[in-house]
Amino acid sequence: MSAQMKNYVVIGNPIAHSLSPDLHNYWLKENNIDAVYDKIKLEKSEIKDFINKIKNQKISGCNVTVPFKKDVIPFLDKLSEEAKKTQSVNTITFENGLLVGHNTDIVGFQKSIQFINYSIKNKKIFILGAGGVVPSIIFALNKMEVSKIIVSNRTEKKAKDLKDQFKNIDVVEWGRSQECDVIINATSLGLNNETIDFDFSNNLNNKLFYDVIYNPSESNFLKEAKKFGHRAENGKLMFIYQAFEAFRLWHNVEPNITKETFKLLKND
Ligand code: ATR
Repeated sequence: MSAQMKNYVVIGNPIAHSLSPDLHNYWLKENNIDAVYDKIKLEKSEIKDFINKIKNQKISGCNVTVPFKKDVIPFLDKLSEEAKKTQSVNTITFENGLLVGHNTDIVGFQKSIQFINYSIKNKKIFILGAGGVVPSIIFALNKMEVSKIIVSNRTEKKAKDLKDQFKNIDVVEWGRSQECDVIINATSLGLNNETIDFDFSNNLNNKLFYDVIYNPSESNFLKEAKKFGHRAENGKLMFIYQAFEAFRLWHNVEPNITKETFKLLKND
């Protein structure tokens, strides 16, 4: 009897626009790995049954995206240190009979900054938003030894909750601009081309504007930033590198990141 083909999945809600299957299936083929990667939209109430399928080896592993990165945790046997610290899991593996939650968003963010050759050490960072991906970004920024992290969120309570988790951050009121070197948009504003209410003009020095969104590839946040001569980067590299790290965890292979990889994710 031939062994069952390995199968991987990304779960989330919504999930239709996820490009994870495109990327993983491309790498699987390129590396001659006999496996498939699919996407499934779940309701929160379905998470437990879904994760049981990994335990029963009906599914080989999964990625987790918004809004379930925290919700999957109670059903896992073990967390990596980074997943534990951020309370965020985006990759699940089944190792020696245990379901293990990993967070590869952290290394994804870190490698994206390294890839663009931006020297972030000792820089002052202003983060807009306090949603699912922000703990991972803060964890990565601390690892990269930035000098200060300021967080602002429309719902201030969520930013304050983050401060319980990461004592070294400052929380400021939504809508107030801050003196900083790097501005990260980690809100979902921009996914539907909304504009972000932010004064881009009052900062004379050249800043890095980083949008976690990569679809559209140039959000209004990045468009405005460019108009004022700032450097603009979207979240595509972070997305690619979190996938790279998940691929490595599951298959023990480092996939190639080439022009083709970027072309695959050309989505607008
Ligand atoms: P979640 O909050 O469920 O983790 P997310 O997509 O990870 O979802 O995060 C959405 C982020 O975008 C949040 O920081 C959200 O702010 P709130 O916490 O106040 O909801 C932010 N966001 C979404 N729409 C926004 C808007 N119109 N103005 C400002 N911030 C917005």
